[in-house]
Amino acid sequence: LWKSVPKGPPDAILGISEAFKRDKNPRKVNLGVGAYRDDSGKPVILPSVQKAKSLIIKSSDHEYLPIDGLAKFTQLATSLAYSNASPLKDHRVASIQSISGTGALRLGMAFIQRFYPHSRRVYIPNPTWGNHKTIIQHAGLEFQEYPYYDPVTKGLNIEAFLNEIDSAPKNSVFLLHACAHNPTGVDPSEDQWKQIQDVMARKQHLAVFDMAYQGFASGDVDKDAYAVRLFANEENPIIVMQSFAKNFGLYGERIGNLSVVCDSKQESDRVLSQLKILARPMYSNPPIYGSRIVSEVLGNEELKKQWLVDVKTMADRIISMRNALTTLLKEKGSLHDWSHITKQIGMFAYTGLHPEHCQELMDKHHIYLTMDGRISVAGLNQRNVEYVADAIETVTRF
Ligand code: LMR
Repeated sequence: LWKSVPKGPPDAILGISEAFKRDKNPRKVNLGVGAYRDDSGKPVILPSVQKAKSLIIKSSDHEYLPIDGLAKFTQLATSLAYSNASPLKDHRVASIQSISGTGALRLGMAFIQRFYPHSRRVYIPNPTWGNHKTIIQHAGLEFQEYPYYDPVTKGLNIEAFLNEIDSAPKNSVFLLHACAHNPTGVDPSEDQWKQIQDVMARKQHLAVFDMAYQGFASGDVDKDAYAVRLFANEENPIIVMQSFAKNFGLYGERIGNLSVVCDSKQESDRVLSQLKILARPMYSNPPIYGSRIVSEVLGNEELKKQWLVDVKTMADRIISMRNALTTLLKEKGSLHDWSHITKQIGMFAYTGLHPEHCQELMDKHHIYLTMDGRISVAGLNQRNVEYVADAIETVTRF
């Protein structure tokens, strides 16, 4: 029956984890998927999350959530992104719990596909997270890349980016990474965000924020929400897709939030009703456990304080690994300039390694990374960083 079904390629990111698992070499290192590890290379349950779990255990049943999720969760999650930005104060943000960030993107794109009358096209940064293109296409939309990263300066190409926003047809849809751009680790400065927001407002573009790393860029969740709050306060039309996979370490719990800023409370009620209609045939209603944990943490002053420390601890360890890797590469006599690794922010370093370097790192050194040269810095630790530096120095020597 399925003879004509061709075998598809492995996923560009999650396929790397599969290859890593198959490798039996004890020295192997996984720098592929963006998942935080502690200094012994182990997954982490954040202390704030651990405490929340012990508090909710007795009251937890396994009932269905409503289609739009746990009300306490969507309210706390939305205010984590917007703080007291005016649309939230005016009760005109439609929020729905989502299947992590990917689910928020998928549902948000389905909403745009069905209800956004102005465009079928979503502008995405070049480069961007590997899954964006497919999510957009599967929702029946098309994508177009906008210039973002400059491989020469290894920084942001702000002029070309602003030009593209300006020359795109009025009311276009632009996908923006709210902070800690994946894969490059290159974010606009606050001044540059202001310029971006200005042109977006003038062109009446819709900004779609992928916010998967709040807290990971600067270690401060408010600083990392700068762009979202700026756009919200300036009344730019925005949709925000939040993930709690990274900043709560709740990867497998699939917990996220989708919010659409509307013109009025009535409009947000209508939008939410349609988001529910889109979600119901896709997955009926979202999983409960992660939403209980996040609401317990964000709704409890003590736990929230602890969580802010937890996020900063993760962000700081990543920074120390960026420094260690760069220093070691220099000490090992690498002829290349690796200073961009310490300038970039968030979970990833966009090393500039070419696909043949990446292949050699995997085949000869058992170091796994995506073929675009992105490494998840969170996969480095005191025990493996020298080994990784050695290997990178070796494959880039000539
Ligand atoms: C990543 O970029 O590694 C993460 O967002 C995980 C994923 O699903 O790709």
